[in-house]
Amino acid sequence: MSDTLIRVENISFAYDAATPVLVDVSLTVRSGEFLALIGRNGSGKTTLAKHFNGLLKPTDGQVLVGEADTRTVPVGALARQVGFVFQNPDHQLFLPSVRQEIAYGPARLGLSGAALEERINETLERFGLAAMRERHPAVLGRGVRRLTALAAIYAMRPRVFVLDEPTGGLDRRFASRLMDLLFNLANEGHAIVLITHDMRLVADHAKRVLLLRDGQVVADDTPAALFDQPELLATTGVQPPQVARLAQALRPQGMPGGICTVEGFCAEYVQRLDVIT
Ligand SMILES: Nc1ncnc2c1ncn2[C@@H]1O[C@H](COP(=O)(O)OP(=O)(O)OP(=O)(O)O)[C@@H](O)[C@H]1O
Ligand SMILES: [Mg+2]
Repeated sequence: MSDTLIRVENISFAYDAATPVLVDVSLTVRSGEFLALIGRNGSGKTTLAKHFNGLLKPTDGQVLVGEADTRTVPVGALARQVGFVFQNPDHQLFLPSVRQEIAYGPARLGLSGAALEERINETLERFGLAAMRERHPAVLGRGVRRLTALAAIYAMRPRVFVLDEPTGGLDRRFASRLMDLLFNLANEGHAIVLITHDMRLVADHAKRVLLLRDGQVVADDTPAALFDQPELLATTGVQPPQVARLAQALRPQGMPGGICTVEGFCAEYVQRLDVIT
């Protein structure tokens, strides 16, 4: 199962006419994908992502969410398809309990009674939030607030989840927990679009990476293939994860290309140890 959920066709965009921000961008997002959107500050990641649910409309070209053209379908209807977790979860949380945050979206979509309760409980369980259901989000830690913001979106069952730097300020443990949740959602057929500056997360979790430079897509590849292109990356301000740089430094000693995770590195290294010993 891999339907095309979002189709971006030759879009350009400018906040003010003198300064183009996106230039002739085309891409598709399919169900089951775990896609990372990377690029230096100001390269246009957030601007592009806001086109996925109609928060911004292209100046040229078109964006189709399913069959819906984002220029003509109301943002509210698109939000059922594409859920957006903003960089700062506090912009999204506005109710006095975790439970109410989670109930809000599905209730607005028309769920009520036992069906709504079931949706809330399933969501609380899935995100490990059941014990905090009556807590006020403001008193919870940053990681739990992020989980609550994602859970509130999940409760509406969008097909695509867009997360703008969701791990900023989180420790590794919380970041991993979030990535595991996203991995499961992708396996269930949702699409994940993860905007991040954390290349280790990209290498460890994304199946596909889109690299933006000055509002243009300059690479659409697997993490392993992308991180093996240092010349291209040097023009984009993106540094491969340390283990990829280590593997590249050892290429003259026979380390193969395409290594960007600790697991991949270890597998190769152990094979070579076997040869030496
Ligand atoms: N609301 C706005 N009005 C005018 N210009 C904007 C607005 N938002 C972003 N820009 C400009 O558009 C360009 C792309 O910004 P965008 O926020 O999409 O980049 P980004 O890749 O998400 O960056 P970051 O990694 O810092 O979040 C930048 O030059 C930015 O200054
Ligand atoms: Mg941004």
